[in-house]
Amino acid sequence: MSKKTDRRTVLNRILYFWGAITSLPIISAIIQFIYPPARTFIGSKVIGSVNDMQPNTSTVVQLGERPVIVITKDTGETIAFGANCTHLGCVVGFREERGDIYCACHGSIFNIDGQPVSGPAKRPLEKIPIEIENNQVTITTV
Ligand code: FES
Repeated sequence: MSKKTDRRTVLNRILYFWGAITSLPIISAIIQFIYPPARTFIGSKVIGSVNDMQPNTSTVVQLGERPVIVITKDTGETIAFGANCTHLGCVVGFREERGDIYCACHGSIFNIDGQPVSGPAKRPLEKIPIEIENNQVTITTV
C-alpha cells in the first residue's frame, strides 16, 4: 500500500464520517414528518351545554396546541377525538350525511369510533375523555 492510497483512504473516511454527521438532522426531520411525535393535551375545556349539542353534528375546538373534534352522534351520545389525522396530521372533519370522519388531505376515512376504514391512515384517532357535569360537556386531559 502506498502513501498516496493511505492518504486517499483516510480522506474518504473523513468525508463519509462528515457526510453522515451532517445528514443526521435531515434524516431526523424526515422521520418526524413521517411519524410525528405524540403530543399530550393539556388542561380541560367546557364545550357547552348538553342541550346545545344537536344530534349528528360536530365542532372542532382547540385544546392546548391541538384541535379536538367533538361529535354528537345521532343517538345523542357525545364523543371527542384528537382532530389530527393519523396519516400526516391534517385536521379531520365529520361528515353528517355519511356519519363518518373524513380527512380531505389524502382521503382517509374513519368510522364514528375513530377507527380507520380506508385511505392511507392506519392508526385510529386519539380518543379524548369527555365529562358531563351540571349539564355541561367538558373535554379533559388524561
Ligand atoms: S393527512 Fe389525512 S389522509 Fe393524509
